[in-house]
Amino acid sequence: MPDKVLVTRKLPGSALDRLAALVEIDVWTGRFAPPRAELLARAADCRGLLSMITDRVDGELLAAAPELRVVSNYAVGYDNIDVEACAARGVVVGNTPGVLTESTADQTWALILAASRRVPEAAAAVKAGEWRAWEPDFLLGRDVHGATLGVVGFGAVGRAVARRAEGFGMRVLYHDPVVGGLALEDLLRQSDVVTLHCPLTDETHRLIGERELALMKPTAVLVNAARGPIVDQKALTRALQERQIFAAGLDVTEVEPIASDDPLLSLPNCVVLPHLGSATYATRGAMAEMAVDNLLAGLAGEPLPNAVHGRS
Ligand code: GLV
Ligand code: GLV
Repeated sequence: MPDKVLVTRKLPGSALDRLAALVEIDVWTGRFAPPRAELLARAADCRGLLSMITDRVDGELLAAAPELRVVSNYAVGYDNIDVEACAARGVVVGNTPGVLTESTADQTWALILAASRRVPEAAAAVKAGEWRAWEPDFLLGRDVHGATLGVVGFGAVGRAVARRAEGFGMRVLYHDPVVGGLALEDLLRQSDVVTLHCPLTDETHRLIGERELALMKPTAVLVNAARGPIVDQKALTRALQERQIFAAGLDVTEVEPIASDDPLLSLPNCVVLPHLGSATYATRGAMAEMAVDNLLAGLAGEPLPNAVHGRS
């Protein structure tokens, strides 16, 4: 009997056809993540799981899926997976680093520019008929060129974001617990744009809270394209309301999706996007290929091309 694999969403590109030719696959075809009970029931007799960041892979799921040998996450981040619990059961875990680095850095820059130059607010003003004449002080923003960029988390994505800053003639600062750089407090005090690129761990949970926001310049912009819980969202909402900082650009929120009545969404100086860092045709297709490669290697008992070993 071929190995059975659960794939928790349809994926862009043709990687799943390749997988289907080799193993028996059960693809959840709903637009949204399978409900928990459905996930547990479908995983019960599977040796492989191709999961999304919206699927929690924990002790409960592992207990419900005794045949499971490999979990291949369709993302670079894997805070949705209890990697230690997987390791304890001999389940190997893979992710998709590298292929999404440049797309995520592009998206980060979309947020930096959108928040600094008030792009969504200005576009909305035009649609609302508020463009009546050219005005000397209409919708003024902050210069990005020549400003100081503070990168928190200097891994692949953080570096790709920093590389782009050269074209804008920016000074780049970084803070990273492994690589080094500036103390976080100094980075926050000196930066005009603070952009977050660290994984979500116990150490980075609410790394940016009331105290950190208070250290930022009143003219500064905060961008988060990493994981929502790295920022204390209530504290950020207050800081934006009170103009303690100039603006924020978020691709991620504490709870996803953000509630449509969340006060953050009513603020003109906050741009919120629905977690689209890697969302290009090419990158999502490449991620699918990589996720399938990890899965097939795991089923064959071979080392995964991209394995994760505990919290990074
Ligand atoms: C997306 O958030 C990812 O971690 O790939
Ligand atoms: C603006 O349009 C300018 O010409 O300064």
